[in-house]
Amino acid sequence: MTGRTSLTIVLAAGEGTRMRSATPKVLHPVAGQSLLAHVLGAAPKGSSASLAVVIGPDHKGVEEEAKRVRPDAATFIQHERLGTAHAVLAARDAIARGSDDLLIAFGDTPLISSATFDRLRAPLQGGATLAVLGFHAADPAGYGRLLVEDNRLVAIREQADASPAERAITLCNAGVMALDGRKALEIIEKIGNANSKREYYLTDVVTIVREMGLEAVVIETSEDEVRGINTKAQLAEAEQVMQSRLRKAALDAGVTMIAPETVYLAADTTFGKDVTIEPFVVIGPGVSISDGAVIHSFSHIVQASIGKKASVGPYARLRPGTSLGEGARIGNFVETKAATLEAGVKVNHLSYVGDAHVGANANIGAGTITCNYDGFGKHRTEIGAGAFVGTNSSLVAPVRIGSGAYIGSGSVITRDVPDDALAVERGQQTNREGGAKRYREIKTRGKAPKGG
Ligand code: UD1
Ligand code: CA
Repeated sequence: MTGRTSLTIVLAAGEGTRMRSATPKVLHPVAGQSLLAHVLGAAPKGSSASLAVVIGPDHKGVEEEAKRVRPDAATFIQHERLGTAHAVLAARDAIARGSDDLLIAFGDTPLISSATFDRLRAPLQGGATLAVLGFHAADPAGYGRLLVEDNRLVAIREQADASPAERAITLCNAGVMALDGRKALEIIEKIGNANSKREYYLTDVVTIVREMGLEAVVIETSEDEVRGINTKAQLAEAEQVMQSRLRKAALDAGVTMIAPETVYLAADTTFGKDVTIEPFVVIGPGVSISDGAVIHSFSHIVQASIGKKASVGPYARLRPGTSLGEGARIGNFVETKAATLEAGVKVNHLSYVGDAHVGANANIGAGTITCNYDGFGKHRTEIGAGAFVGTNSSLVAPVRIGSGAYIGSGSVITRDVPDDALAVERGQQTNREGGAKRYREIKTRGKAPKGG
């Protein structure tokens, strides 16, 4: 689309009553991203592209989400919900600025791709005034039907106004269109509300364009790309479509998944080379997985970065702010949050590591807990490189365990432990001193003890 300017208007002012939710419809997630974020991500970008989002009067959250995803977006409030054409005119000021192509999309159609926006714009370049995105619906109920005569689009008929013969038509309006940006305002302002719902229907642009003696065309796409989401069932269907797209893209990029249909990815998940994801793994937003890392079964990961050759799970939970260094190992029933674990750290079993920094090659024994919350505030735990924390220890934050320090099993550490110190806060000392000695000897020979 070189040289042509565009304005994309995304309509997101609807209540979405059929979702039966207090959350505005377009903020519901598909693959870890709001419906709105998906649409805004697909809309044209760059210096020749402007973007406007029409939101409801009490939808501050929708406005924030629009700005978060596309800081360049202008937002307009539709004060009364009088229909899709009325909603477009809420962005009148943006339209009046005049662009070559005016694109209109709905915030509840998250599977749309940027390639489809380009395909819709092509006919305008060829002289058409309007291009409407159409698809054959398996069940057309609820969609506007495209009335085509002699290969020419002549009207869009909404379900409520359609005759039985028109209702039998399966070619439907996807809700996305491209209009000649210089004529758009004049055309949309002609739309009235003489229909069964007394709404201003954007779909009436077709007959108006025809009456003006101008050209309107249909561009077809697959139903999967334009599923409109009005209900929770449709939200779940869109999730399935999106997940199969993301799984395929991951497999194409070289990720090994022997049961991809059991793995849930987010739209922004990134992978290095030779990543393996075992069955039944759930990955939320903000996750990057580096070369050679393995995610074992039943792990749940959100906003985390996983270093090269790291190993996670089975049954691990990595919460937001987790960063694993190269070769780090997180075993079963381990939870991490806001924690950086440097290269070679091992937390193999049954531990909680939160608000913490763990230096390289430290070994955190089974049942270790960073006690980060004292009932009032969160506090940090520092564990130095090469430290050994014996099983079933409680590290009461704020606390620092020195590098190379040795914490005997069952310790409750409430004060900082100097580098290379032996710390035993409770219980019998003798065994632990022996353990610390053996640990140091093995470490000086370059071999850490197994397990922990
Ligand atoms: C609309 C189309 C229909 C099409 C279908 C595709 C119209 C009249 N009908 O029907 O032809 O087949 O989408 O999914 O255009 N909105 C506002 N303000 C309003 C009304 C709606 O912002 O006053 C927004 C909604 O938030 C939504 C979009 O416009 O994002 C579509 O509205 P919706 O009520 O879902 O229209 P449909 O009945 O699905
Ligand atoms: Ca809809």
